[in-house]
Amino acid sequence: MDIGYKLIRSEILHLDGISSCHINAFPNAIFSKLGPKFLKKMFSWYFESENRLLFHIEHDGHCIGYFGLLINNGKLKMGSTSSIIQYTFSQIITQILLNPRILLHYSFLQNFKLIVRNIKLKMFSSKKNEIIINDNNTDYFPKLGLIVIGLRKEYQGKGVGTYLLKSIDQIAHDLKVKSIYLTVSKSNINAIKSYVNNGYNAKPIRESIYMEKYIL
Ligand SMILES: CC(C)(COP(=O)(O)OP(=O)(O)OC[C@H]1O[C@@H](n2cnc3c(N)ncnc32)[C@H](O)[C@@H]1OP(=O)(O)O)[C@@H](O)C(=O)NCCC(=O)NCCS
Repeated sequence: MDIGYKLIRSEILHLDGISSCHINAFPNAIFSKLGPKFLKKMFSWYFESENRLLFHIEHDGHCIGYFGLLINNGKLKMGSTSSIIQYTFSQIITQILLNPRILLHYSFLQNFKLIVRNIKLKMFSSKKNEIIINDNNTDYFPKLGLIVIGLRKEYQGKGVGTYLLKSIDQIAHDLKVKSIYLTVSKSNINAIKSYVNNGYNAKPIRESIYMEKYIL
């Protein structure tokens, strides 16, 4: 479906618009609560490696949707969430000091182990550059990780997400990856429906669902 929005490979100058779009798409998420300054740093993570890609679409010059991708060759140093936490660590601490109430956010409790692991990694580990995730069976790689996807509220449920997912299929095809994968919260029924409609298969893992779509 051609929905009339041109896909734009995002650059630093687009980060204000993408951050504002993220807050609109995920108003209750911890990363949104950390504020626009934090989000700009978070999205600049995509410009730190050629394995990471950030795209967005605009309407009347404003960002209305975006997605972030990671080319995973099976030899990543850590998962994307940890990598983002490590990259934005000092901004997270600054925001917590400015607004300690953030610590009451449900994600801190829900992701306690991940947070402790990341604090240890930041404070004590001299092995930051060691490979932590290394899948020996590289036959199944490279894969494309869909790290984040979001649309402004008023554009949701109208097929725009499907347009973005089809654009990701095309990128995956051009990159010759074997599959596209993502994780989504079990409670995010709308997003799961959209992924299933677009050919993703689901595998439940704890409170999340791992979804994967194979590229022919
Ligand atoms: C997830 C998201 C990208 C999907 O895009 P979308 O444009 O809303 O979904 P589409 O219109 O392409 O898909 C349509 C289908 O998904 C359902 N759907 C998905 N998200 C919906 C939403 N937010 N509101 C209403 N319907 C939604 C529709 O019911 C429709 O199903 P149907 O074909 O059976 O009617 C978008 O809803 C979004 O940004 N949500 C908030 C952020 C988010 O949760 N991101 C995913 C994190 S893993």
